Amino acid sequence: MRFDVITLFPEMVQAVTQSGVTSRAAEQGLITLNCINPRDYATDKHRTVDDRPYGGGPGMVMKADVVLSTIRDAKQQSPASKVVYLSPQGKTVNQAMMSSAAKEEGLILLCGRYEGIDERIIELAVDEEWSIGDYVLSGGELGAMVVIDSITRLLPGALGHEQSAEQDSFSDGLLDCPHYTRPEEIEEKPIPAVLKSGNHAEIAKWRRMEALGRTYQKRPDLLEKLDLNEQDKKLLEVFLRQQ
Ligand SMILES: C[S@@+](CC[C@H](N)C(=O)[O-])C[C@H]1O[C@@H](n2cnc3c(N)ncnc32)[C@H](O)[C@@H]1O
Repeated sequence: MRFDVITLFPEMVQAVTQSGVTSRAAEQGLITLNCINPRDYATDKHRTVDDRPYGGGPGMVMKADVVLSTIRDAKQQSPASKVVYLSPQGKTVNQAMMSSAAKEEGLILLCGRYEGIDERIIELAVDEEWSIGDYVLSGGELGAMVVIDSITRLLPGALGHEQSAEQDSFSDGLLDCPHYTRPEEIEEKPIPAVLKSGNHAEIAKWRRMEALGRTYQKRPDLLEKLDLNEQDKKLLEVFLRQQ
């Protein structure tokens, strides 16, 4: 999958391809990251990308002419890619959105800075606005990195173990079950005995029960959206009885 990121801070975004899963995905050619700096599209001698807001007030606004030229060039390089503006006013991203985005050929991610971008850019050249949460960042770069990371781990072959992403929280509407590794006991806390039983059916049942139980406890809003089958209802009852 191809990511074109329009950013005044390309070195910040490039860092996403320097560690872990996303770095390996870039090495394997599962993702390509192309950063485009709007400053390269500024036409004056100071390479100005921002200007004072009409109507007055604090801060600066990213210029429509410069950003539109940048987006149009990015679009020429990857015509099939949707243009997404990272914005606190956008739709809050979730796993389902990332999962459907992972099926796209590419995305053009537009990172704002300062007070944001000239509104006409959104009207003329942005397909969607995505937020990474109800708080305000200084720029869209961290948002773009969040999007690239979460989409990349969903691409076939990106994770060492094919099932890992399927078992992650949210993939089936539930939070993930707890995980344990050696040592078997720490500070008088042993691991749950079933995990040593070697009985794979029992282990799978226990994991499902824990996923249901912890979703009930930590994110009841997620559980409310699900239509649990009889088996899941029973597992949840068992979990709650054990508390
Ligand atoms: C300081 S913010 C501008 C905020 C804008 N004045 C507002 O209140 O809607 C600068 C840039 O950071 C990015 N940004 C800020 N918060 C974000 C969030 N929650 N999700 C995604 N991008 C965000 C956007 O690209 C935005 O243009």
